Amino acid sequence: MASILEIRHVSKSFPGVKALDDVSISLAAGSVHALLGENGAGKSTLIKIITGVQAPDAGEVLFDGASMRFSKPREAGACGIGVVHQERNLVMRFSVAENIMLDRLGAHSLSRVDHTAIADEAVRWLKMLDLDIDPGTPVSRLSVAQMQLVEIGKALSLRSRVLLLDEPTASLTPNESAALFAIIRKLKADGVAILFVSHKLEEVFGICDTVTVLRDGRNVCDSVPLAGLNRQDVVKMMIGRAEQLARRAPRSKPAASPLLELRGYSSDAGHRDVNLTVRPGEIVGLYGLVGAGRSELAKSVLGLSRQTGGEVLLNGQAVHITSVASALHHHGIGYVSEDRKGEGLILLHSVLDNAGITIWQRLASRFGLLHDATVAREVGPVIAKLEVKTPSLQQTIGNLSGGNQQKVSVAKWIAAGVKLLIIDEPSVGIDIKTKAYLHDLIHELAGRGTAILLITSDMPEMVDVADRILVMDRFRIKGEVENDRVYERVSQAIMTFIHDRKAA
Ligand SMILES: Nc1ncnc2c1ncn2[C@@H]1O[C@H](COP(=O)(O)OP(=O)(O)OP(=O)(O)O)[C@@H](O)[C@H]1O
Ligand SMILES: [Mg+2]
Repeated sequence: MASILEIRHVSKSFPGVKALDDVSISLAAGSVHALLGENGAGKSTLIKIITGVQAPDAGEVLFDGASMRFSKPREAGACGIGVVHQERNLVMRFSVAENIMLDRLGAHSLSRVDHTAIADEAVRWLKMLDLDIDPGTPVSRLSVAQMQLVEIGKALSLRSRVLLLDEPTASLTPNESAALFAIIRKLKADGVAILFVSHKLEEVFGICDTVTVLRDGRNVCDSVPLAGLNRQDVVKMMIGRAEQLARRAPRSKPAASPLLELRGYSSDAGHRDVNLTVRPGEIVGLYGLVGAGRSELAKSVLGLSRQTGGEVLLNGQAVHITSVASALHHHGIGYVSEDRKGEGLILLHSVLDNAGITIWQRLASRFGLLHDATVAREVGPVIAKLEVKTPSLQQTIGNLSGGNQQKVSVAKWIAAGVKLLIIDEPSVGIDIKTKAYLHDLIHELAGRGTAILLITSDMPEMVDVADRILVMDRFRIKGEVENDRVYERVSQAIMTFIHDRKAA
């Protein structure tokens, strides 16, 4: 098949990092092409070179056989190349419709803007993505998953011939991803060339035809059919060895009395009569579909929405937590937010500064002044275990790859030494190898007596990590599943609670 877009021998270096080294790839019309590789392998950099966000040091980009170099991302859009970048590019104070049409508004900034037509177009795309939302809603009010769907809707509305999707499903649940895949299949039938980046290999095998794997900025393979390969073949190309699926040893029973207890908890956010306990050394999972109210529950307990009934007890004492900062400093509770970009990291600061934020309070009181060496000593081992790819701890965190930023935002909490850690979607965007290491770290943390509340939409992760699993639906706890780590049985039991909407 003739290729629409071809990248030939592209190289790109940043200070201390060769992000791409002689990389080639070619995208065909009517085909879905997977771009795979570990965190920091060079996937996003390649996409940014195609769209003109970054300029290559060497090599060329051919579009319809002609050499192209875009100097501004908007030029790529005008040429028929649509893109969903890994990092979010929405204007928070603008509405959903305005964001979706932003590039077109910009192009015709002097002409009169037909707001009704814009809203209509936006609604059409969002409906196709199963997102039922008023297009006049400011983006700042959306959940992380909804923002992601708006980004995708925005790229689709350009009706491009080439669509580059950099981890579009990272923060989506399987249901939402399925809606996107239906659209991808339709676009493929219409002859669109699609590039799809994901760390979820089931998705890749579900929708992709061709695959390119990068390791340390070099091609391991270049545009080969996926049909002849299985999961282990692909994993080997990505990480250089086979995947290790160790079965977890049973964990010792946690202490008897709960560290955190919710009794008949209700909130402004919509929670009704939530009962929940987490003991020291115990990992309690909170599973549910998107919109079930899990992240909202964590945020509400931490004071981000109002408690309207019931009790929050810490070590048997009723408490009222007013903010995330006070949760950390007065109660020893840590919170790994699902919204890394919005809340988790200070992107203009170094890896070391970011890592030091959470341990500052604990160590500063002991040592007076907190030296970089102290922070490095505390957080260094966690950063090493998670294989954070950075030229140094002084590197600005915004320059790390998406997955490596995520690793730092989780690492700093693992090193924080809190009594209770609430972890919301810890492995979004983290490659399969590091994910296993992260699960090890969470187990070690619980082994040292930390109480852990884990929120994840990733069922295999839930079954690998949690001791017992609470199922939440529509802001209520529907039931509890004891986790014996037999995947089929546990996932079935969870889904039964979710589908039984009459029970509660
Ligand atoms: N602007 C930049 N300045 C310095 N280094 C950069 C910059 N952009 C990317 N890098 C480095 O280039 C390498 C490749 O990064 P890239 O974002 O392309 O990885 P990726 O394959 O998309 O990883 P992930 O799966 O984590 O998203 C990384 O080591 C990253 O730190
Ligand atoms: Mg990336």
